[in-house]
Amino acid sequence: MAEPHIDYAVFRELSGFIQDRTGITLDQSKDYLIETRLGPLIREFQLDGYADLLRKVRTDARLLNRMIDEISTNETSFFRDNSPFELLKYRLLPELMDRGRQGSGPITIWSAASSTGQEVYSIGIACREIMGAQAASKVRIIGTDISDSAVRRASLGAFSELEIGRGMSADLRDRYFTASDGLWKIKDELRAMASFRQMNLLEPFSGLGSFDIIFCRNVAIYFDAETRKALFERLAKQLRPNGALIIGSSETMIGVTDVFQRQEHMRCAYYTLRA
Ligand SMILES: C[S@@+](CC[C@H](N)C(=O)[O-])C[C@H]1O[C@@H](n2cnc3c(N)ncnc32)[C@H](O)[C@@H]1O
Repeated sequence: MAEPHIDYAVFRELSGFIQDRTGITLDQSKDYLIETRLGPLIREFQLDGYADLLRKVRTDARLLNRMIDEISTNETSFFRDNSPFELLKYRLLPELMDRGRQGSGPITIWSAASSTGQEVYSIGIACREIMGAQAASKVRIIGTDISDSAVRRASLGAFSELEIGRGMSADLRDRYFTASDGLWKIKDELRAMASFRQMNLLEPFSGLGSFDIIFCRNVAIYFDAETRKALFERLAKQLRPNGALIIGSSETMIGVTDVFQRQEHMRCAYYTLRA
C-alpha cells in the first residue's frame, strides 16, 4: 500500500520535532524515510495525515514512543566491525586487570546505543573469553537505547537464526546460547552480567555512574555537529580517569572536540581523556 505523502512544510516541522527529541537529523532527502516509517503509524493510530500526527505526538507518550521506535535505525550485529572486541580482549581488559581495577569494584562498561543487544552480549562474551568465569562477578555491562522496543528485545536476549548468523561463530553460539522455540537465547550467566534501560542520550545521564569503557558506536552519525560535540563531551564526564571511549569505525573525533586523546591498538582507534 502506498504511504501517505508528506508536504514540505509539515516535513520541516516534523523533522524539527524529531531532532529536538532524539537528536536524529532528517534532511529533505529523507522524506521517503518519514513516509515509509511513519505512514503505517498514521493508519495504526487512525490519524488524519502527518500534521495530525505532529499535533498528537506532542501529548501522547505512547505515540511518541512508537514514533521513536520507527524512526531510529536499529541496524546492528554481533561483534560488529570485530576490531573493537579485539581491542577489548587484548588491550583494555588486560590493562584494567593489571591495574587491579577489580579491587575497587567491578569493571563497568556502557553500551550507549545498544539497539537490540548484540553489542552488549558481544562485550559480555569477549569478557568471558578473556577473564573466564570470574567475568560474571567482575564485569557489569549496561545497555541503553532511546528505542523502547529495542531495549525490550535486548533484555529478552533471544535472537533468530538470521540475527545469530550475523557475526556469531557456531562455536561461540553453542557455548553461550541455548536453542529455545526456534530462537537462540543467551545463557543466564551472560545475561546476568548485563542490565538494560531506555535512555535518551540527549537527556541527563542521572544515576548512571562512571565507566571504565564506553561504547558509543553508530549513533552520533545521526546527529548534527553541535549535538555530537555536546554528546562526546558529556560522555567524557562519565569516564573514569583511565577510561576508554570507543566510537564507530566510520566515525571520527577530528574537528568534533579536543577533550579526548586518540589512541590506537592494532589499527583500532579509541579515545582516552586528554591529560
Ligand atoms: C545503528 S544502531 C547502533 C547499535 C550499536 N551501537 C552498533 O553499533 O551496532 C543506533 C541506535 O541508536 C539509537 N539512538 C538513536 N538516537 C538515540 C538517542 N538520542 N539516544 C539513545 N539512543 C539513540 C537507536 O535507537 C539505535 O538503536
